[in-house]
Amino acid sequence: MNILILQSSPRAKGNTAWMAEEYKNAAEAAGHQVTLVNVSKMKIAGCLACEYCHGKGNGACIQKDDMQELYPLMAEADVLVLASPIYYFTLNAQIQAPIQRMYSVNKPAKVRKMALLVSSYSPGVYSGAVSEFNDICGYWSVENTGVVTAKNDEQKTEATKQKIQELVKKL
Ligand SMILES: Cc1cc2nc3c(=O)[nH]c(=O)nc-3n(C[C@H](O)[C@H](O)[C@H](O)COP(=O)(O)O)c2cc1C
Repeated sequence: MNILILQSSPRAKGNTAWMAEEYKNAAEAAGHQVTLVNVSKMKIAGCLACEYCHGKGNGACIQKDDMQELYPLMAEADVLVLASPIYYFTLNAQIQAPIQRMYSVNKPAKVRKMALLVSSYSPGVYSGAVSEFNDICGYWSVENTGVVTAKNDEQKTEATKQKIQELVKKL
């Protein structure tokens, strides 16, 4: 399957980047084609709610920023993986912007399965992110293959790596 991973931590060698790499490695070992994008390095603005996309734009967003690079990747993906650090009890802003900019096309055309990878410092801070993720899977009518979380003492560990490998087996 064609897998797109959106990784949203600005820390290139951080915990979320590690989780995304582990997912990529496991998926490639299983024969999938994987594209890993660091959305925190892209200039993606929030949705303007101008409704141009649902009118004259005919599905195209009026804002011409780095989201133009992501739209075709989103359109071709069979599996979408969101990888984000927890910022203030939820997914970070860098990943919210591209998700919300999908408003122009409503949903990624081919995506059938999704997964969520999240890292944090503290335990028990995932309910907001997981709730949003579950709701998006429902709204887009895609299979929710699950969530792997990693708090401080679970980061870059063999146990977390194994959980990520189990997630990949659900594809
Ligand atoms: C702006 C900001 C907000 C954060 N908010 C939380 C939080 O609410 N709860 C928490 O446990 N950790 C929080 N953290 C810590 C990060 O989630 C944690 O260090 C995470 O592993 C960072 O991932 P990274 O290494 O991929 O950047 C925050 C970090 C930053 C920079």
